[in-house]
Amino acid sequence: MTTIEVKNLRRTFNKKSEFVAVDDVSFKINPGQIVALLGPNGAGKTTTVKMVAGYLTPTSGSVLIDGTNILDSPKLLRQNISTVFGGELGFYARATAYDNLNFFATLFNIPRSQRKQRIEKALKDVDLAEVTHKKISEFSRGMRQRMHIARALLKETDVILLDEPTSGLDVEIAHEIRSLVKQLAKQGKTILLTSHTMTEVEDLADRVLLIGAGKIIHDGTVKSVVSLSGVTKVDRPATLEESYLALAPELRR
Ligand SMILES: Nc1ncnc2c1ncn2[C@@H]1O[C@H](COP(=O)(O)OP(=O)(O)O)[C@@H](O)[C@H]1O
Ligand SMILES: [Mg+2]
Repeated sequence: MTTIEVKNLRRTFNKKSEFVAVDDVSFKINPGQIVALLGPNGAGKTTTVKMVAGYLTPTSGSVLIDGTNILDSPKLLRQNISTVFGGELGFYARATAYDNLNFFATLFNIPRSQRKQRIEKALKDVDLAEVTHKKISEFSRGMRQRMHIARALLKETDVILLDEPTSGLDVEIAHEIRSLVKQLAKQGKTILLTSHTMTEVEDLADRVLLIGAGKIIHDGTVKSVVSLSGVTKVDRPATLEESYLALAPELRR
C-alpha cells in the first residue's frame, strides 16, 4: 500500500520564451484510490504523469512516495511506480507476447525464477492468456493496449499511472480496461489516470483533478465538479460532460 503525493510541481519548457506546462500542481492519492486528471489538450496532463513516473525532471516541486522524494530514491521509484502510456508502439512486432514481456521482465530485474509465473499472471489479468505465444504483429489495437497494461502489471507495483489508457479503443475493450482498473484499485493499488472520456472519468474516478493551462482548478468528486459548474437540469443531475463544458472556458490557456 503506497501513497503518492505531489507538491507544488512545476515544469517549464523553453519555447521562444519560457513556457509553463505545469504550474504549481499539488495533490495526494491514497491506496485504493483512482484519481483522474481531466482537462483539454495541452493542459499539462501527460507532463504531470511523466514527472510522477520519473521520466521528466520537475523544474521545481516534488513527487513523494510514502513521504520520500523520488529524486532521492530512484530505486523506490522503480520499485513502486509503473506507467501505461497509450499507443501501439513499444513492443517487438515479430516476437510473441511472452517473449516481449520476458524482455521487459529482464529489464525490470525480475528474478529469473519468478519471470514465467509473473508473465503468465499479467497476461491472464489482461485477458491475453490465450495468445501468450502469438506474435504482436497479429494483435489488434485493443490487444496491444492490453499488452501495455500487462507490462505495467509485471512489475507488481503499488502505484499505476495510466495516460489515456483507452483512447482510440472500441467501446467494449475500453469497458474491459476500465473493469481491470477498478479491480486494481480494489486490490489497494494507487491509481492516477488521464482521460478525455467523460463517462470513463464518471465511472472510475474517486476524485477528479480539473486541469487547465497547467493549473489544477479543482480537486474533488465528480459530484463536486457538477456543483462547481452550477449546471442544473430539471429532471436529473447534470452529467460530468455538461458540467465540464460549462467550465471549459476557465480551462483554456
Ligand atoms: N518536450 C516538450 N517541449 C516543449 N513543450 C512541451 C513538451 N512537452 C509538452 N509540451 C507542451 O506542454 C503543454 C502540455 O502538454 P501535455 O502535458 O502533453 O498536455 P496534455 O497531456 O494535457 O494534452 C503543451 O502545450 C505542450 O505543447
Ligand atoms: Mg496527454
